[in-house]
Amino acid sequence: NPDLSFQGKNILITAGPTQEAIDPVRYISNHSSGKMGIALAEKAAERGAKVTLILGPTALKPKPHPNIKIIPVTSALDMFEASQNHHNEAKVVIFCAAVADYRSEKPSVEKIKKKDSALQIKLVKNPDIAKTLGANKKQGQLHIGFALETDEGVLSAENKLKEKNFDFVVLNSLLDSEAGFQKDTNQVTILSKNKENIKTPVMSKELLAIQLLDRIGSLLENKFDN
Ligand code: C5P
Repeated sequence: NPDLSFQGKNILITAGPTQEAIDPVRYISNHSSGKMGIALAEKAAERGAKVTLILGPTALKPKPHPNIKIIPVTSALDMFEASQNHHNEAKVVIFCAAVADYRSEKPSVEKIKKKDSALQIKLVKNPDIAKTLGANKKQGQLHIGFALETDEGVLSAENKLKEKNFDFVVLNSLLDSEAGFQKDTNQVTILSKNKENIKTPVMSKELLAIQLLDRIGSLLENKFDN
């Protein structure tokens, strides 16, 4: 299926985890592998899109492709800045990253010494990248989000859809053992702003990427939908 709707279009993808420094040797992070975002970047590039992949620290990288530009970032604040810099030019923005919700208020310049007492680190909220850019969505631009829940999660995914102004949100439920972090397969529920609710079968992240891009392609074609 040579989907021409992506030819020459700019696609911005955030992917992977973020790392929030506690001191020069320690950080707060999560188990995101970046697999899903990397698969989306590869498949979109194959369809002729110009992909900007803002990638947190991961072991994985996409296969090199002339249409993929990787912007490596470490922290949520770095990812936020890079995303803002590339938002205007993007036709499609896919928020795949597992952004740390909190960061240390004041990372220590020196390695924190071990003491006999408990240690307190004050954490402050990171900006919500998807929500901030969602409040600034451009005419005709599509925003797609992900939601990972340890329970059913449909209600909270619907809330994210609204709150972050997504066109659709892809819900991973960790209840489904084939879904989520580090896995090669995924089973998701797609919830869209026009009240669709589609549960996909278990499939590889590559195949899911293809199906999500098909869906995005048809939204790009049906401009009235947006
Ligand atoms: O609110 P929650 O983190 O569950 O929402 C997940 C969605 O929001 C994902 O698409 C994720 O990439 C995006 N997000 C973000 N910036 C944050 C937190 C989440 O872009 N600080």
